[in-house]
Amino acid sequence: MKLSKIMSPNLMRSGSASIARRLPQVFAGLAMAASCAFASTGFAAEPAVGNAEAAKAKVSMCIGCHGIPGYRASFPEVYSVPMIAGQNAAYLQVALRAYASGERTHPTMDAIAKSLSDQDIADLSAYYAKLK
Ligand code: HEC
Repeated sequence: MKLSKIMSPNLMRSGSASIARRLPQVFAGLAMAASCAFASTGFAAEPAVGNAEAAKAKVSMCIGCHGIPGYRASFPEVYSVPMIAGQNAAYLQVALRAYASGERTHPTMDAIAKSLSDQDIADLSAYYAKLK
């Protein structure tokens, strides 16, 4: 008896081996975070463009001192108030910002200027520049 050993190597092609595609982690972070949100803070070195019309709603807090005849305020004591009507708008903006930043100091003007936004300053400056 011939024992024919047929060594037929059964090449089991296991190329179709199943690949577990279970990813244990979810990469939620792949979502691109919003790119560069540049917060434009509007630090303008240039004088802002003012709207004299818009200032009309804001001058009520200035006329008590700057609009009085003779330009003399009696509070907190009698002192002269500079005439700002007709002044150059850029000059007025610089003056108001100087009070707001503390570069220039005056008890009442400091407080007033600090309460103003950049736009308020621009608007009021435009308004007073046009006022004769
Ligand atoms: C309580 C009175 C008072 C009020 C209210 C007031 N000011 Fe004044 N302001 C003054 C006085 C006084 C000065 C001068 C201060 C100094 O010597 O620096 C001055 C100075 C200024 C100057 C600088 C003028 C210059 O020639 O350098 C500007 C600009 C000005 N004020 C704008 C305003 C505006 C705009 C308002 C309203 C939002 C306002 N002021 C409200 C009293 C006042």
